[in-house]
Amino acid sequence: MNKVKIAGRKVFPIGLGTWNMGDKADKFEQEVEAIRVGLDNGIQVIDTAEMYGDGNAERLVAHAIKPYNREELFLISKVLPSNASKKQLPISLENSLKRLNTDYLDLYLLHWKGNIPIEETIEALEKVKRQGKIKSWGVSNLDVDDLEKIMILPDGIKCATNQVRYNLGDRGIEFDLVPMMNKLEMPLIAYAPVARGDSFGTNLTKQKVLKEIAKKHHSDSFQILLAWCIRNGQTIAIPQSSNTAYVRENVKAAEIQLTHQDLEQLDSIYPKPSMKQPLALW
Ligand SMILES: NC(=O)c1ccc[n+]([C@@H]2O[C@H](COP(=O)([O-])OP(=O)(O)OC[C@H]3O[C@@H](n4cnc5c(N)ncnc54)[C@H](OP(=O)(O)O)[C@@H]3O)[C@@H](O)[C@H]2O)c1
Repeated sequence: MNKVKIAGRKVFPIGLGTWNMGDKADKFEQEVEAIRVGLDNGIQVIDTAEMYGDGNAERLVAHAIKPYNREELFLISKVLPSNASKKQLPISLENSLKRLNTDYLDLYLLHWKGNIPIEETIEALEKVKRQGKIKSWGVSNLDVDDLEKIMILPDGIKCATNQVRYNLGDRGIEFDLVPMMNKLEMPLIAYAPVARGDSFGTNLTKQKVLKEIAKKHHSDSFQILLAWCIRNGQTIAIPQSSNTAYVRENVKAAEIQLTHQDLEQLDSIYPKPSMKQPLALW
């Protein structure tokens, strides 16, 4: 299993997403348990955002991580584009830190591109970094042209990651964004890595080839989707689940080493892009 280098750390390549978590009181204990099962089995990265449930996901995470050593975790949160100004970003961050009951984030992301100039957002991010409130910053849902604009800014090179939608059925970024990020040695964070429980209509997990590869590795199709996502050692996949059994299976996907032949077979049913494609969003 390859740990992924990100922001000066080496972390387990599977993390935990938290979108749609923390909203329902009757599911709270189950969701806390799902996060803890992940952490007990080696997961370090937890991905959340001020937007998720209007802070409810961050509150849930705070509760779940209470018994754990903060230094071993890698907490990510995101600022809404409308809050990414010099004035508002520090307030948003402070609120996230309070909800998460921690005094720093490992990574703070601009959730998507908005109207506030990126120069101003980066300046604000660098300031809160100097204050020790975040260890690093990055972006989300940005394509090549926007990353290029960031790279020519004075502190642009400090951008630690780009979090984008990536799974076997959504390979568009392999055409140009992935090569660019590889060149920059910038790790990718893949959201929707199991294609939202295979609900995007691509029927990934029903593919005979995927099922056969899963059988060969004594695993299931969801685990193969995750193993595929993290295959190059530069990607962290952040599947979301409130089901402890799924979380356990997702963690185990990090041990699966897909062979050259497996990858070729997967390419034959879900080919690499041969031309530029618009970034898949949400
Ligand atoms: N930056 C952004 O704009 C952005 C956008 C979207 C998502 N994200 C982040 O990425 C995370 C993951 O993305 P996502 O939640 O959209 O999609 P996802 O992780 O691909 O899919 C989540 C769904 O997959 C199911 N699932 C997970 N593991 C499974 C398994 N082993 N077997 C069967 N089903 C499984 C879950 O089921 P159960 O509900 O039954 O557990 C859940 O319904 C989010 O939670 C969020 O933190 C970021």
